Amino acid sequence: MTREQPRLRSQLLTWLLVPLALLLIADAFVSYWIALEFSRRAYDRSLIEIAHEISLHLRGPAEALELDLPEAARRVLLTDPSDRIYFGVSSADGRAIAGVAVPAPSGKIVHGPHAEALYDAVIGNAPVRVVEYRPDLDGRSRQRAVVVRVAETEVKRRDLAREILLSVVAPQVLLVLLAGLIVWAGVAHGLSPLERLRKAVASRKPYDRSPVEVTDIPAEVRPLLQSINGLLGRLDRVLTAQSRFVADAAHQLKTPVAGLQAQLELALRQQDTAQMRASIGMLQKGLDRLARLVSQLLSLARNEPAAAISVRLAPIDLNALALEAASSWVPEALAKSIDLGFEGASAPVMIEGDAERLRELMDNLLDNAVRYTAPGGRVTLTVSATPLPSMSVNDDGPSIPSEERARVFERFHRLLGTRYDGGSGLGLAIAQEIARIHGTSIALADDSDGIGNAFSVTFPFPGKTEARDLDSM
Ligand SMILES: Nc1ncnc2c1ncn2[C@@H]1O[C@H](COP(=O)(O)OP(=O)(O)OP(=O)(O)O)[C@@H](O)[C@H]1O
Ligand SMILES: [Mg+2]
Repeated sequence: MTREQPRLRSQLLTWLLVPLALLLIADAFVSYWIALEFSRRAYDRSLIEIAHEISLHLRGPAEALELDLPEAARRVLLTDPSDRIYFGVSSADGRAIAGVAVPAPSGKIVHGPHAEALYDAVIGNAPVRVVEYRPDLDGRSRQRAVVVRVAETEVKRRDLAREILLSVVAPQVLLVLLAGLIVWAGVAHGLSPLERLRKAVASRKPYDRSPVEVTDIPAEVRPLLQSINGLLGRLDRVLTAQSRFVADAAHQLKTPVAGLQAQLELALRQQDTAQMRASIGMLQKGLDRLARLVSQLLSLARNEPAAAISVRLAPIDLNALALEAASSWVPEALAKSIDLGFEGASAPVMIEGDAERLRELMDNLLDNAVRYTAPGGRVTLTVSATPLPSMSVNDDGPSIPSEERARVFERFHRLLGTRYDGGSGLGLAIAQEIARIHGTSIALADDSDGIGNAFSVTFPFPGKTEARDLDSM
């Protein structure tokens, strides 16, 4: 089962909407609580005033107090359109003086400005708010002998609470919904360049490697577009190189194969054995040349950037490898009376490399040097460790003109007048690809003695080859 990938849009919405909603809910809660608290205080104050008013109507000495509350005053004080108001006056020791029994304080008590106690209680199943007031009747007595309690049912308090709830919370809910809509629209708008980019990439034809164009792309998304285009560019280079290779190979193989067919037909028509032998000898030469061409083409394919990505470089001794290569070319050089020398370093020269490929690079350079140097000339393979590990092949062949120095590394490019006709112009191209795999390139200069050419390769410090950038090829 694949886990569903988190979607950017829902993530953004969650991160924006949930905190926003929580904030608004908290705000509604606080506003509601504050409004309720203020209205409770206002109602409590009017309850306190009633208690004070009643206490003003107490008459007589402390032991025999009476309440003298005229009917008219009683009506004004104790009548309310929505609530019932109860009062009770008793002595400090609990003797009832007037009114009904109102419960004594219990639970949470709030104190009023003149030491009144305000608390919640129940009278006949109905919740009530009560104020208890102990008036100082003669202004002197420290022991206040009378307790006045006034209780009021909570109908209008509840009504008000409901009204406040509606008037505070309803707009907040509306605000949450509106904010949600705005955030939703904002996120959709903000993500639209990504959607356009997705469409532009998705609607590509399989072989279209031109850069993706999306207008009005924000700065944050531009690097993504640039990376996609960079990738397309690299893909284009690799695919172009590959199709060029296939075209080159087809073109280069066609002629020798046709030649071989013609030679074979000629040989078959020969009656004379000696002539037939001569034809077969030609055929063999042609086959050898074809075999070399095929192996060179394969080598080129093997060393192309796309194929070379998987090459693993390992520490090897450049000095030993070069000595081996030079030794193997001695018989060839001797046959041409060429003095092939090796000037190695005194100690191993370690580099990060691929031995088989480096050997091919040396072989190709030595092959050219021995081939194009006239008999009696000198070819020297040098390896040195400082300042950086390097190798060079110096020869006495015809100097390659400076305007041709870059071109000889191109595929199938051969200098005009090159006499040897067995080559196909791939040796240096292959060598250059191998150098690139090693994070370097082959440099071509005049030989230090002024005669011939010097092909040299300088290797980066061991460990630095990791930095080779196949992408930039
Ligand atoms: N050491 C050299 N001295 C003089 N000319 C050279 C030398 N090396 C290369 N060249 C010139 O550069 C051309 C390209 O060399 P490259 O090795 O790529 O191909 P090639 O030798 O012609 O064929 P092959 O594919 O068999 O190597 C050669 O044809 C030759 O003209
Ligand atoms: Mg060559």
